[in-house]
Amino acid sequence: MASVPSLASTLNRRIADAVSAALPEAGAADPLLRRSDRADFQANGLLALAKKLKGNPRELAGKVVDGLPAGELIGEIEVSGPGFLNITVADRAITETLAARAADDRLGVPFKERPGTTVIDWAQPNVAKEMHVGHLRSAVIGDAMVKMMEFTGEKVISRHHIGDWGTQFGMLIQYLMEHPHELDHKDETSGEEAMSNLNRLYKAARALFDADAEFKERARRRVVDLQAGDPETLALWQRFVDESKIYFYSVFEKLDMLIRDEDVVGESGYNDMLAETCRLLEESGVAVRSEGALCVFFDDVKGPDGKPVPLIVQKSDGGYGYAATDLSAIRDRVQHLKADTLLYVVDARQSLHFKMVFETARRIGWLSDDVHAVQLAFGTVLGKDGKPFKTREGETVRLVDLLDEAVERATAVVREKAEKVGLSEEEITENGVYVGIGAVKYADLSTSAARDYKFDLDQMVSLNGDTAVYLQYAYARIRSIVRRAEGTDPKAHPELALAPAERALGLHLDQFGETLAEAAASYEPHKLASYLYQLSSHFTTFYDQCPVIKADTPAHVENRLLLCDLTARTLRQGMALLGLRTPERL
Ligand code: ARG
Repeated sequence: MASVPSLASTLNRRIADAVSAALPEAGAADPLLRRSDRADFQANGLLALAKKLKGNPRELAGKVVDGLPAGELIGEIEVSGPGFLNITVADRAITETLAARAADDRLGVPFKERPGTTVIDWAQPNVAKEMHVGHLRSAVIGDAMVKMMEFTGEKVISRHHIGDWGTQFGMLIQYLMEHPHELDHKDETSGEEAMSNLNRLYKAARALFDADAEFKERARRRVVDLQAGDPETLALWQRFVDESKIYFYSVFEKLDMLIRDEDVVGESGYNDMLAETCRLLEESGVAVRSEGALCVFFDDVKGPDGKPVPLIVQKSDGGYGYAATDLSAIRDRVQHLKADTLLYVVDARQSLHFKMVFETARRIGWLSDDVHAVQLAFGTVLGKDGKPFKTREGETVRLVDLLDEAVERATAVVREKAEKVGLSEEEITENGVYVGIGAVKYADLSTSAARDYKFDLDQMVSLNGDTAVYLQYAYARIRSIVRRAEGTDPKAHPELALAPAERALGLHLDQFGETLAEAAASYEPHKLASYLYQLSSHFTTFYDQCPVIKADTPAHVENRLLLCDLTARTLRQGMALLGLRTPERL
């Protein structure tokens, strides 16, 4: 495996070196190289530099041009305007770089220089509750982040912080105790059955809880037993967790995601740490007693009445809540898992909670300059009407129903073209799943996570737009071209002049590694999504303008097949990192 520096980075370094040579007092200066419409690249950095050193930018630019080593990299270079450099890369350099990428399993993408350990908190549904679109976002974005970070060489540990603890279990457990056969079932319970069992039980328990004051009291006492670790109570609690996991795993499987059981460490997993967490916070003075509760105060967090709103770590009745658990989880992740980054893929509506939790952890030193925490906060999923997504009856939409509908729509889209492609019924079904699930994931990943987005299945499975299926078709089309080339293998011919569409595609392919590194480092999968969309568009233009199999000479055929092959592999790799499948025929 050999990593391949991008043309842009090599060029940037060469220009920076020429600047230092021309102007030693400039030190390490960034030439600010950008893609440009006028040439391949434009360097704008000399302007500010000359100004700073009271020199003439055009003169400096001229000197830099003279100082650049003659070689194979630069085709043309000119000084333009007040002192920009316009640079056109030599065709040969493009082809040679692409050939080096094609020869590498990782497409020449380097590992990052100083990989660390990131614990990522994602896909965290709640026990005994239906999963909704909010859980979808955390799962889709989290899965993509795990894959992207791992590809850059980061050590990634997943934590699924499921909601498996709290007072609501008192009611459920008490009900199950009094109706012991309600969760009995055969071994082969499906996810759907598990959830409907839980729903039924939840509704019945709730009804009794609201109607019967004595049951309510028994449920309340059951909470105390649960917190005290009473074995019989815990055993029943475990049954709710197990039943829920059957359901969770079935949804994650539908989403084509791998969730490992050992990574599921829910709120209950930190029970043993809660008292110690509170003790440490109180002894250090970071938290103080206020009206019996253990609280942390912040200057900038106030309620509508202007009074400070504290983070409550322990309630006045001694109970621990969400904050105590999250603070304990931080200790665990930093001290035991040795994380240097904690990433939380959680709804933006929990941002205040995390702001306070992170600040508390910083004050006591669990977080520091070397160990930091970030919330990758995502927006709300909206219905077509622009309001939070609900069913017509005003209920939250069941995730499973959404996914099934997406697959159904996608299958219809696939079927329309199936005959032309010669797909079997089996392939139609399989592709329908890949396209449907891909559509839902891509819609989520292709806009910046912080923004709300509209859940619009028609748009998601549209063939002409910024959609997963557009990318999937581009991939399948390239694969079919390569198949039709039969005995001819891709091969680089650096001596050939490149058409404009070949250059544009080639230069874009060369940016894969940098785009990925940036998207992973800034936790912005949408940057990778938009790169892949542009890649498909560049390919479409190339394919319109440059015949591949019917190209003028055998050398042209081989060279263009190399572009096809590298495009397909880059698409496949990039899409895999976003959790998207790439069927060979579509
Ligand atoms: N279970 C929570 C919910 O459904 C999300 C948990 C987020 N993670 C955390 N460490 N608090 O809203």
